[in-house]
Amino acid sequence: MSFPWAEHYTPKHPVMKWVDERLPLPRLVYNAVGSGYPVPRNLNYFWNFGVLAGLALTIQLVTGIILAMHYASNAGVAFDSVEHIMRDVNSGWLLRYAHANGASFFFIVVYLHIFRGLYYGSYKAPREMVWLLGVVIFLLMMATAFMGYVLPWGQMSFWGAQVITGLFAAIPVVGEPVQTWLLGGFAPGNATLNRFFSLHYLLPFVIAGVIILHIWSLHIPGSSNPTGVEVKGPQDTVPFHPYYTAKDGFGAGVFLILFALLLFFAPNALGHPDNYIPANPMSTPAHIVPEWYFWPFYAILRAFTMDLTIPFTGLVLIPAKLLGVLAMFASILLLFFLPWIDTSPVRSGNYRPLFKKFWWLLLVDVVVLGYCGGAPAAEPYVMISQIASAYYFAHFLIILPIIASIERPLPLPGSITEAVLAKSKFKGEREALPGMGSDTQPTGVA
Ligand code: HEM
Repeated sequence: MSFPWAEHYTPKHPVMKWVDERLPLPRLVYNAVGSGYPVPRNLNYFWNFGVLAGLALTIQLVTGIILAMHYASNAGVAFDSVEHIMRDVNSGWLLRYAHANGASFFFIVVYLHIFRGLYYGSYKAPREMVWLLGVVIFLLMMATAFMGYVLPWGQMSFWGAQVITGLFAAIPVVGEPVQTWLLGGFAPGNATLNRFFSLHYLLPFVIAGVIILHIWSLHIPGSSNPTGVEVKGPQDTVPFHPYYTAKDGFGAGVFLILFALLLFFAPNALGHPDNYIPANPMSTPAHIVPEWYFWPFYAILRAFTMDLTIPFTGLVLIPAKLLGVLAMFASILLLFFLPWIDTSPVRSGNYRPLFKKFWWLLLVDVVVLGYCGGAPAAEPYVMISQIASAYYFAHFLIILPIIASIERPLPLPGSITEAVLAKSKFKGEREALPGMGSDTQPTGVA
């Protein structure tokens, strides 16, 4: 741990002392999320979303494991087994709605978590590894959610599996064998359902493992903060417990209230009604659309409507479908390079006036992409998707590097404490109070 002033663990209870001497697990917890972990004193509510993502994963694991006790991953009975869960299993409806809507909440908090990172430059040195592992988690989440949606074996499950595995068929030469290999046949069927169920059960545990690495790599430099200025001494931090356990607890309360509202009053609001129709390979739905959290990427996929040809010859170099697939994967994979694309030495958007404007534009752009991705593949949505997709790539590949070189950032505060006290309306009184001066450390830090 890089904070020499962090409180040292001294077990108070004899049982804890006994355990800690043999397996220092209590020490590990204390140093990771207890009083032994100093955290910047100025974190705002946007720093709640990491813990909320952890809460969402826990909800998914608990509800998922119980659902799996009643679900049957056989194409002949999968749909009926889900209906059985909804009607016959005690509280089965609650479990299933919690799991389906839990996926949506998981993506909501992770999107907020990502946009927080984008605004405050959390991806910059020395936290590049935290960011890279975050992108890995995001990819794993997408794969898990996609496979989970196939399991109820409704119309959208079936046709979603057909469309998404069909994307791989766009790869030249090996594409079709790859699609057949993924599906375990020439069309989605029993083999598809079995392998998707197996992987859908496995991947959340892989995600949990990567989260441990994510938090481990975060705890080396410690959390960043809204100023982006690094911690300079004990006066800049407070112990994680009780300060941030309380703040995260409050965040978790708000999360659970909003989750309960959706669950009990509008449990089907975010789902597609066609998935209440059993899968039918003989009838293609008029409008195949993934879950809302994939819409921005789906819009990029569909934005390519023309093949790339060699001029004047008409020879197709890259078919439109392959262009769409490449662009969709590139839109996520380019996030891996972000720490090296944005070369500005200033982290936080609060001190980057130009960057801040473009951050807002990116947010609007992703919302527009999302809207178009959920709309039918017709005009004007296709054209808007094309413009918004081009803007998305331009933001990362052109605008960010230019901003980094021309922007004149605002002056940074000398320290976290200086920034906190400059904002405090009780500044004079606080400094007059014993133990609250800007050069003393807050209560609870040794
Ligand atoms: C299951 C998903 C995830 C979980 C449970 C998770 C958990 C956490 C936790 C607990 C923190 C510390 C508290 C906080 O800063 O909010 C954190 C920080 C961070 N996470 Fe995640 N995370 C997840 C996904 C992601 C993703 C998808 C990304 C980016 C692509 C990401 C990037 C970061 C970064 C850069 C930080 C450091 C923030 C800072 O100190 O400024 N995380 N994460």
